[in-house]
Amino acid sequence: MAAAYPWLKSFHIIFLVSWYAGLFYLPRLFVHHAMSEDAATRQRLEIMERKLYLFVTPWAVLTVVLGLIMLFGYWDGFKTQGWMHAKLALVVPLVVFHFWCGHLVRAFRNGPNPHSHVWFRWFNEVPLVFLVLIVILVIVRPF
Ligand code: HEM
Repeated sequence: MAAAYPWLKSFHIIFLVSWYAGLFYLPRLFVHHAMSEDAATRQRLEIMERKLYLFVTPWAVLTVVLGLIMLFGYWDGFKTQGWMHAKLALVVPLVVFHFWCGHLVRAFRNGPNPHSHVWFRWFNEVPLVFLVLIVILVIVRPF
């Protein structure tokens, strides 16, 4: 495990960056989708949203799987670390946010706009808040 650990952590970070590319871009597409009226633009956005969601979901899964392998590989060390518990408490709603995006991709395809473009502009900021909090926790380790 010790020899593999730096590789696990490297790919954990590589996959989370890839995942975040989608978490930042998909809500942006929802903003444009909620503002667009013409059918051709809406259809193109539907295709982009579905392809992007399917593209980033494996990176989300791999980020979590590699994180869990490292976590349980060194559980005795991490179980007393407050920052790790706080991090995991933030990762759960982030994963929910990811699947909520999947639900919105389908909602746009199956009916009228699920929310206004203003609502999606706020929705678009959510992943950034999680990223800032999680990165500060794992690097600064304040508690
Ligand atoms: C269930 C999901 C996750 C688990 C179980 C997990 C677990 C871990 C573990 C055990 C480490 C190694 C820490 C160390 O070596 O000291 C780590 C590193 C890291 N994780 Fe995660 N993680 C998860 C999700 C995430 C997410 C969603 C992010 C970012 C948004 C993230 C960001 C990081 C970063 C930046 C590091 C490197 C920290 C360092 O260099 O010490 N992780 N993670």
